[in-house]
Amino acid sequence: MRDERRTTGGTTLAVLHVDGDFTAEGDFSPDQVGKGAGSGGSDSWEAVRVRADELIAECGAVLVRGLGIADAAAFHRTVSRFGDSLIDSYRGGNTPRATVSDGVFTSTEYPARYDISLHNEMSYAAQWPTRLYFCCLDAPDTGGATPVCDGEALLGALSPEVRARFADGVVYHQFLHGGFGLGKSWQATFETEDKAVVEEFLTASEAEFEWTDDGGLKVRQHRPGIRKNPRTGRDAWFNQADQWHPSNLPPEEAETLLDLIDSYDELPHWITYADGAPLTDEDLAEVRSAQRAHRVAEPWAAGDIMIVDNMSVLHGRQAFTGTRKVVVSMT
Ligand SMILES: [Fe+2]
Repeated sequence: MRDERRTTGGTTLAVLHVDGDFTAEGDFSPDQVGKGAGSGGSDSWEAVRVRADELIAECGAVLVRGLGIADAAAFHRTVSRFGDSLIDSYRGGNTPRATVSDGVFTSTEYPARYDISLHNEMSYAAQWPTRLYFCCLDAPDTGGATPVCDGEALLGALSPEVRARFADGVVYHQFLHGGFGLGKSWQATFETEDKAVVEEFLTASEAEFEWTDDGGLKVRQHRPGIRKNPRTGRDAWFNQADQWHPSNLPPEEAETLLDLIDSYDELPHWITYADGAPLTDEDLAEVRSAQRAHRVAEPWAAGDIMIVDNMSVLHGRQAFTGTRKVVVSMT
């Protein structure tokens, strides 16, 4: 077992190479768990887990190479052995996803030709995952990496003026249709047909909401833009402001979408500062430039897993060609 570091600006991704011969299928048999995993390799499963946890504590993100995870079931078993229970629902989420098996999701079904911008998972919600586990089951021909960016480095790269504008938080706006319209319906978002269940969930989430005359639902969530990183005790960028802004849409899609609506209020999701003012182009440009300056992207190899401390490190997805299958679990 050996590890390396990939560093850009203030972001470091640890890459842990393991040599475990974790059976020919890249899997662990039940009696191997915690007892040394393979027949021919030198690394025991327990040693890999301990080292991966140490590297996350140091860097916030680690890519583990050499486990040879072959399918979603093997991935599920591997992640489960880290000890935390898996989140089995993506309720309230705004990206297209499919459930592969219990607690394992496609990482996203967003079209391959577009990048997905860097973000902290579900930072718009009242609760968010602690850790994200990605697993590459099929590596793309080109592109398709899951770039990461350190949230403290990103925040530190912003001017005091921009930081101040995000200090009071941001308001995430959603307009979820009732069955036909742009984006996801409220039924798909909240995985229910029952309005009372939705209302209970949103009330518990301290979200404001209103049902619209056409059967849709408007949701507003005021959340911090900066949070204390529990790993370090320091402030870190923790939001999805730039990602929820219409300027994040691919140009041709933005044109079609913005033609269809009379105001941003009708978009499936958008964002304002805490006082309701739209985000400025200058602030967005500064945030995106800081993300580029502190971004590490390690190409995927089939069988890799990457573990991300969600409050420390943002993640995204590069556009790709070929077949890419990356699944995700969250704890
Ligand atoms: Fe994500």
